Amino acid sequence: MKIAIVGLGYVGLPLAVAFAEEGHEVVCFDVDSAKTTALAEARSYIEDIDDATLAAVRERLHPTSRHADLADCEAIVICVPTPLTSAREPDLTYLIDATESIATVLRPGQLVVLESTTYPGTTRERVAPILERTGLELGKEFFLAFSPERIDPGRTDWTVRTTPKLVGGMTPACTERARALYAEICETVVVLASPETAELSKLLENIFRSVNIALVNELAQLCDRLDIDVWEVIDAASTKPFGFMRFEPGPGMGGHCLPVDPFYLAFKAREHDFYPEFIELAGKVNQAQPAFCVERIERALNQAGKPVNGSKVLILGAAYKGGSGDTRESPALKIMKLLGVLEADLSYHDPYVPELTDLDLRSVDLATALPEADVVAIVTAHKEIDYAEVVDAAKLVVDLRGVTRGISADNLVRL
Ligand SMILES: NC(=O)c1ccc[n+]([C@@H]2O[C@H](COP(=O)([O-])OP(=O)(O)OC[C@H]3O[C@@H](n4cnc5c(N)ncnc54)[C@H](O)[C@@H]3O)[C@@H](O)[C@H]2O)c1
Repeated sequence: MKIAIVGLGYVGLPLAVAFAEEGHEVVCFDVDSAKTTALAEARSYIEDIDDATLAAVRERLHPTSRHADLADCEAIVICVPTPLTSAREPDLTYLIDATESIATVLRPGQLVVLESTTYPGTTRERVAPILERTGLELGKEFFLAFSPERIDPGRTDWTVRTTPKLVGGMTPACTERARALYAEICETVVVLASPETAELSKLLENIFRSVNIALVNELAQLCDRLDIDVWEVIDAASTKPFGFMRFEPGPGMGGHCLPVDPFYLAFKAREHDFYPEFIELAGKVNQAQPAFCVERIERALNQAGKPVNGSKVLILGAAYKGGSGDTRESPALKIMKLLGVLEADLSYHDPYVPELTDLDLRSVDLATALPEADVVAIVTAHKEIDYAEVVDAAKLVVDLRGVTRGISADNLVRL
């Protein structure tokens, strides 16, 4: 088959590679010429795909910024961003732009699949009308489905191939076309009744995590007051073989999904005079977590007889999760901004994030920075860092990720 992927980011690139590895020709359409140039040179820009993997399928990947190249593809899969506007409402600009590009070349027989996370109704209410304006009949002349991406960047135990794939088409024929497409690369394809079911399933998965993370974050705040080790409580509860699922507290939620997706559902719910309080409350607790973490850093410094103002604060990890260089919505950035307001002398180290242009900072050398800092705050747990060495070399450490469990030292404070 000849398949087009529209948007070659964290979601689109692994998908393109998976189809190419299965022997399909893949048109890689992105408006960012830096990405299409990198692909043409078989240079990867995301951690999950290495250059050797790209090189192995290079001949079947066809990077392009011309939407005319979508015209002769049997299937077109949309993986563009779905962020929030400054008013924290769904921003479908990228999706609408991408769909309009596809509409200019849509031809009989083509299947269009949306993978970007969005609210229930987007495929039917926003994507279908643009494609139908071509005059082609949906379900007969062209086919449309929603199939949410479930990728978890950095994860190796579950892959595009082994993670079950959900599909919900606008008509039974649309669903069948989408099922057949993903059966090429996924071991299990789960067929759903409609695109809305598929859209909402993805939101449920992310909101489930958001709510449970909020629960343990709140518990961490309570444990701080009660002087109980929250990690020991979670370890203890996790010994129950049924009815409990482990979630861990941290500096707050980051990334493109968890902080964003609940607002997509809340927006849709509001249109129906419904106010999902659980979802909003989870968002509120998680968004307050960076401020709580700053307070812990402030208290630790205070106990050492130092004010935040002028103290050297080294932030360990700027990405929103370990093993990734993605800083979108990262709590580390919020923590740094709050510490900046308190006039801390800030620096950071992250092996995956060489610079933070917004904050005008570059990642510093860890060995040099550790003994110089008044406090080191562990915000992201990267596997490459030896946290026992960090505790040894630093004057004071605040661990917001629980990576120093098992270490007991006078200069160590844990969330
Ligand atoms: N990153 C994740 O872990 C993850 C997991 C599951 C689902 N998702 C969802 O998948 C979608 C994509 O996320 P991502 O992390 O891959 O985003 P990303 O920013 O890494 O990649 C999106 C790409 O789309 C390109 N793009 C934007 N507008 C375009 C257009 N009109 N035409 C062609 N290309 C265009 C961008 O240049 C970019 O390369 C989002 O809806 C996200 O919520 C992301």
